[in-house]
Amino acid sequence: MCGIVAYVGHQEAWPIILEGLRRLEYRGYDSAGIAVVDFSGEIQIRKTVGKVGGLDLADREDSLQGSVGLGHTRWATHGRPSDANAHPHTDCHQRIVVVHNGIVENFMELKTGLEENGHEFSSETDTEVITHLMEEGMDQGLSFEDAFSRMGKLLKGSQAITATHEGNEGKICAMRLGHAGGIVIAHREGQGIVGSDLPALLPLFRHDSLVSGVGFLESGQMAVVTREGASYRDLDGHPIEKDTRSISPEDIIIDRGGYRHFMLKEIMEQPQAVASAMRERVDFQNGRVQLPGMPLSIDEIRSLRRVVLIGCGTSLHAAQVGRHLIERLSGLPAEAESASEFRYRDPYIDDQTLVVSIGQSGETADTVAAMHLAQEKGGRLVTICNAENSQATRLAEYTLFMRAGIEIGVASTKTFLASLTTLNILAAYIGQTRGVLSSEAAKELVEYLARCPGLIGEMLADTEIYRRLAREFYTCSNFLFLGRGINAPIAMEGALKLKEISYIHAEGFPAGEMKHGPIALIDRTMTTLALAPKDRMYDKVVNNIKEVKARDGVVLAVVTNGDTELASQVDHALYIPEAPENLIPLLTAVPLQLLAYHIAEMRGCDVDQPRNLAKSVTVE
Ligand code: G6P
Repeated sequence: MCGIVAYVGHQEAWPIILEGLRRLEYRGYDSAGIAVVDFSGEIQIRKTVGKVGGLDLADREDSLQGSVGLGHTRWATHGRPSDANAHPHTDCHQRIVVVHNGIVENFMELKTGLEENGHEFSSETDTEVITHLMEEGMDQGLSFEDAFSRMGKLLKGSQAITATHEGNEGKICAMRLGHAGGIVIAHREGQGIVGSDLPALLPLFRHDSLVSGVGFLESGQMAVVTREGASYRDLDGHPIEKDTRSISPEDIIIDRGGYRHFMLKEIMEQPQAVASAMRERVDFQNGRVQLPGMPLSIDEIRSLRRVVLIGCGTSLHAAQVGRHLIERLSGLPAEAESASEFRYRDPYIDDQTLVVSIGQSGETADTVAAMHLAQEKGGRLVTICNAENSQATRLAEYTLFMRAGIEIGVASTKTFLASLTTLNILAAYIGQTRGVLSSEAAKELVEYLARCPGLIGEMLADTEIYRRLAREFYTCSNFLFLGRGINAPIAMEGALKLKEISYIHAEGFPAGEMKHGPIALIDRTMTTLALAPKDRMYDKVVNNIKEVKARDGVVLAVVTNGDTELASQVDHALYIPEAPENLIPLLTAVPLQLLAYHIAEMRGCDVDQPRNLAKSVTVE
């Protein structure tokens, strides 16, 4: 994870780098730093512990002057957040400066060797070996770029690295190794910019309608960027002809739109997110679904024997809902698994296995690695992803874009609902193609899908009840979330939302598991949120609620409009509209997001950037 920006051109570098870093804070925000090569060719560095804002040098006397530089916003892996551990890092004589994203897996071994050769380290980071390895190469007479590629060959692990050096050459080198963490490069009119992700390019291209010539590094590639242009090569120095792309800055511009937090804005955007996930895929007129450009032929879809869904965090919960949908709508055996576990098993995958990866960012290291594994084993690979041009989209045979618009809040909301919508469509498409889903059932699903944005909009029209409940519950220390069947993953998602943004301890369970342990936690100080919509598991969940009430537990229940009977038996009821079972998770998720948001806000938490987390987790 961690954000990287580097600039070479004719403007003052630090404000451009700072703006790029602000736009990358979703990648980590526990410390930050900027290095600039000043006009006498010396490297000047400023660092801060905490967020990027601490680097604003506008009113400071120790401002940085120079038109070449690089910066970093960190999510700590090796070494706690501190000035010494914040990037950029330098060699023994401050001739080389480096920012880094990822983990140098063999850093202990490299560090020992470098120390034996007299190199002095000033941080606890793995990154610092990179600067000293480059120093070693340059001491041996190698050029800056050759020392850079030599260093790359000595590292183990997945990473992205960017470096520059003292003097007036104005040269930035960037490298990508493995699949955790990308590097993008753009150049125009004597200015080059390098970033770990597309928003880093915005300071230079904000007013353009299209940025052309954007280069994405693949593993084992490096770029040399100067005022004259960008060139690409492999680590043996062979030039590479890079296929570049055109990107619209509008697609990556971000704005809070009058809301106090991005998370609230994104919750409110969910009706549009769900509607746009359906665009071109749901044929409302004929009551069926379609997937334009789907590369799997009808015969190939008919010969599928299994579907495996993978993801991490919120995307794992979407995968778990997806498992139910695939089983029900397409009649295929389906499994959902955390990508971080899947990649370390020996999963049985063949060309009759459809692997569906889910990820908002398309950059989560474990998910990308699991996709590589699935591909190596010959599986058919589809991704459901929000970020265009991300690794997942480049790897998969077919991308179902979530089309939720950029999501900034670290806690995923609208991309979760967009994933669930897309999974319904994918499952129905497979069912239709295999002749398992009847045209009546497809028609009914489509009719309800069409109503979903409106139903979600109704739920968002008045959020006063969540504020009221938040006032009552924001001092709680523990929460249990219960759900069954297709709503069990929503219970886990509700618990994840609450713990990640409010720091309240919360656990989600399939409600049937309560009696096997968690019920021991119930007393009058324990709050349980139970998902009890009118679906096939309703009676079972009502029994589970009674078991909690019988032990004096406090119960909040999410119930279907009109269910006054159950509402009267619990402490507080939150209502959702009636819907067919497959679409209920799109509705039950919403009260849980709003409750978590208002509780976190009332606790004074940094809702959009919770401690210790990052939006895009590109370390393993
Ligand atoms: C991080 C975020 C989570 C997110 C997970 C997976 O842990 O904090 O909110 O669900 O990554 O991200 P992805 O981009 O793969 O959906």
